Amino acid sequence: MDHSFDLVLFGGRGDLSMRKLLPALYRACTEGALVEGTRIFPTVRAEEERDDYIEWAEYALKTHLNAGEYRDDNWLKLKSMIQPVWLDIGENDERWQNLAKTLKAEAHPVVYYLAVPPAVFEPACRLIHEMGLVDENARVVLEKPIGYDRESALEINSKMGEYFSEEQIYRIDHYLGKETVQNLLALRMSNVVFEKLWDAKTIDHVQISISETVGLEGRAGFYDHVGAMRDMVQNHVLQLLCLIAMEKPSRFEADQIRAEKIKVLNALRLIEGDAVDEEAVRGQYSAGQQAGDLVAGYVEELGDPTSTTETFVAIKAHIDNWRWAGVPFYLRTGKRLAGRFAEIVIKYKPVSHRAFDSAVGDMPANQLTIRLQPDEAIELQLNGKKLDQLNFELAPIKLNLSLADQYRGFHSDAYKRLILDAAANNSTLFIHRDEVDLAWRWIDPIINHWGVTKRKPELYRSGSYGPYRADELIEQDNRKWSNPEL
Ligand code: BG6
Repeated sequence: MDHSFDLVLFGGRGDLSMRKLLPALYRACTEGALVEGTRIFPTVRAEEERDDYIEWAEYALKTHLNAGEYRDDNWLKLKSMIQPVWLDIGENDERWQNLAKTLKAEAHPVVYYLAVPPAVFEPACRLIHEMGLVDENARVVLEKPIGYDRESALEINSKMGEYFSEEQIYRIDHYLGKETVQNLLALRMSNVVFEKLWDAKTIDHVQISISETVGLEGRAGFYDHVGAMRDMVQNHVLQLLCLIAMEKPSRFEADQIRAEKIKVLNALRLIEGDAVDEEAVRGQYSAGQQAGDLVAGYVEELGDPTSTTETFVAIKAHIDNWRWAGVPFYLRTGKRLAGRFAEIVIKYKPVSHRAFDSAVGDMPANQLTIRLQPDEAIELQLNGKKLDQLNFELAPIKLNLSLADQYRGFHSDAYKRLILDAAANNSTLFIHRDEVDLAWRWIDPIINHWGVTKRKPELYRSGSYGPYRADELIEQDNRKWSNPEL
């Protein structure tokens, strides 16, 4: 960033601010992206919280930055930009007026970051408006989840629209800020290989997996109300699907990229009624072992044996358009699984003619794996000749590009990128309201069917790859989940 800006961080003391946003700001500051004159106003709800804020922030950084990343001199620099504000978000009072006066004193961009539950979006935006702060410098960043279903999302988006124009609203999906996710766009748009080999003629199916080892992480109140479908599939998983499936825009610009993603969401075949039982699986973790430790099941961790919230989802999705006709997209995500990984696997069709007799060996179909985390890598699995023998025998070969090795020492931080983009008025990696709407349009019938049938989620052991039915979902089509070596 070559210019200063103000960041008003609503929910400054919350989990997201402490764990993600402060470390992101620290990294931005360390890299020189927060220039002099930048001011950060985290809001807190009590006077004591304001007085203790700097101490908490330092503790949060020491806890959540990577080992060896924290340095006193960098913190000193960031600390000088932080001015905690004691505020009742919905109250038009002197404290709000003081904040408004401070903000108006500078004529640079102001980012209002709503790291608060959706119920607080409206009062916060109303007050920003009442204080006369909505001008061409103002932009508002909204955290997911936007709504609980299509109707509530529509209501939130309409309310926001009363105070801000669509261009001023930045809806975050932090997956879009991950370096490898952006790399996915680069790969697709700058390589002729992928231009030609990216449709139903050559691709058999696609798998998108986001697998987590963590459980509730102290977010029980939020998570039990939401579940994996709303927490992960409605946003992160569908965004990845859009980036894989969309047509290439003629220019790499926010409006064009969003328009292509919207077309994909529109083409997603709805899964309704009994089809939900066939094409979607929901699971909940039970007790098990992870990294050698015994861990409790979801309901024990939550302290409510009656909860039927899903912590795992697998879905077979179809995109009804020319490019993807007949190519299933298998999606899965869950907590307390065997390992932490996020991968997109493009499984190609077998070669059209087999010239070798069977003694020469198998010819598994080619596979392109784009690994987003924990390490960032792109792998292409091909077939070749075994080189160390006289017989002609086939063997798999892997072209393996490890981005983690190539960019050693580089810390990718999605939130850093997104905060700086919002300050720079660049909405390419943010979500348009129509995307939110269409994602819910696809999600709602599935969740509604689960509500109607009242079928409990299938239990899976913590530390496993998910429920048995998730394997069945793909294996009944004679395919298999591609699980990385952990
Ligand atoms: C968040 C979800 O959006 O993404 C969390 O609310 C989840 O439940 C997290 O753990 C995963 O993000 P990442 O970047 O750690 O894969």
